[in-house]
Amino acid sequence: MSLELLANCLIDKSHLHECLDVSAILANIIITLLTSGELVISTETSGTRQSESLHERALRVLPAGISYKIRYMEPYPFYVDSALGSKVFDVEGRKYSDYWCTHFSMILGHAHPKVKTAMAEQIEKGWNYGLSHELEVRHAELVNRCMPSVEMIRYTNSGSEGNMYAVRLARTCTKRTLIAKFEGGWHGGYDALHCAVKPPFNAPSSGGLDKHAMKDTLTLPYNDLEETRRTIRRRRLACIIVEPVLGGGGMIPAERDFLAGLRELCDENGALLIFDEVITGFRLGMGGGQEYFGVKPDLTVLGKIIGGGLPIGAVGGRRDLMEHMDHTKYSSNEYCFQGGTGAANILTLIAGEATIQTLMHEPVHECVNKLGSRLFSQLNSSIDRSRSHARITGVGSLFGIHLTKQKSVRNIAGWSSEQQERSKRLFRFLLKNEILLLAIDLPHGAISYAHSEDEVDAFASRVEEYLKTET
Ligand SMILES: Cc1ncc(COP(=O)(O)O)c(C=O)c1O
Repeated sequence: MSLELLANCLIDKSHLHECLDVSAILANIIITLLTSGELVISTETSGTRQSESLHERALRVLPAGISYKIRYMEPYPFYVDSALGSKVFDVEGRKYSDYWCTHFSMILGHAHPKVKTAMAEQIEKGWNYGLSHELEVRHAELVNRCMPSVEMIRYTNSGSEGNMYAVRLARTCTKRTLIAKFEGGWHGGYDALHCAVKPPFNAPSSGGLDKHAMKDTLTLPYNDLEETRRTIRRRRLACIIVEPVLGGGGMIPAERDFLAGLRELCDENGALLIFDEVITGFRLGMGGGQEYFGVKPDLTVLGKIIGGGLPIGAVGGRRDLMEHMDHTKYSSNEYCFQGGTGAANILTLIAGEATIQTLMHEPVHECVNKLGSRLFSQLNSSIDRSRSHARITGVGSLFGIHLTKQKSVRNIAGWSSEQQERSKRLFRFLLKNEILLLAIDLPHGAISYAHSEDEVDAFASRVEEYLKTET
């Protein structure tokens, strides 16, 4: 902040608080000294001392100084002060063009006025009752109207929890244990799904995982129907869980035939098909990935956008399956438990409802998808012009930049250490230029309604600038 700005703020504050004397006098002194040249203040804003010292404090109380591994940045993360529209502002006053979008949740951009107003009104009436309320009914009806396969729904605190309950429900309904997921698929930290997230796929993704949970999870190659068919042949599966777009794998879309083939395989096998639409739900259109690809799952897991960016998850789907969560209809091992203190909390649902209503009534998807196409074509031209080894993946407003020599990217089996190193350099270069992607070793992102064409163009030209330095 410049000194003049500071002085003006002081005047403003004094006006607001009707306490003119001290701050106005101080402001006047500063302005006088500044104009006379007796006071010289460094206008250096590129330092990151506040973030550095916050990180030093963080290292003492938070493992690695962070609250989530993918938020790790070298040598330390920037610390956010506020977020508005397509930007996040750090404690140093830097302004980042944000394609991280709260882990892809903020489709409308940060602090959208309609969501903010809805939340402010709700806060006056309390923010988590831990009891039944009208909004959970309204929100569920809204989701059902947009995504008809979700005949019934239960809300959870996170996408991870949503996936955990979806698997539990599939096991309850099929009375089978074995499940299958795809390599590169990220479904959250639940033991049974926390495997084969990044290559090498046979290495454990974390310590402390339940061995029994892991041995009952088959991992399959994404977008490879034949291999999937071979692997699950003669196995009695409770479910196959799949993301319509491999998010953590760098926004790699499923091929339509692959998803349609999974539907058939599940039907032949007697397994349930679960779509993890935590990212794609309400992102690829009101009906999510299932509408976009035209394939209907038995169960759907949602999160992110349905809570307007506040913590949320949900599991929904066929009535006959969801009813196994009804303790008045089922008991003992036919009943599937779900619940929690924050389940269907009203503040999250009000933010989610305002977000979904805005998606319904404003051309949000049209706008973000148009920006997405613009970005894809510019990034592809940048790659051509710079003769760089890179591939762009994505769909709609979701995109991934794969710094790889592979001709096409259909899954992340080829994610090499060279790609990771190049990705880190690109990530750092963009960050230095105040452009934020997620994450450091596999840059990908999402476009929000608050982004502009100019912003997207500037992003693409920065990528080109970087690629030219590489070649
Ligand atoms: C596809 C997918 N599923 C599940 C999750 C887990 O959701 P949460 O972080 O809310 O637990 C994520 C999180 O990024 C995700 O991208």
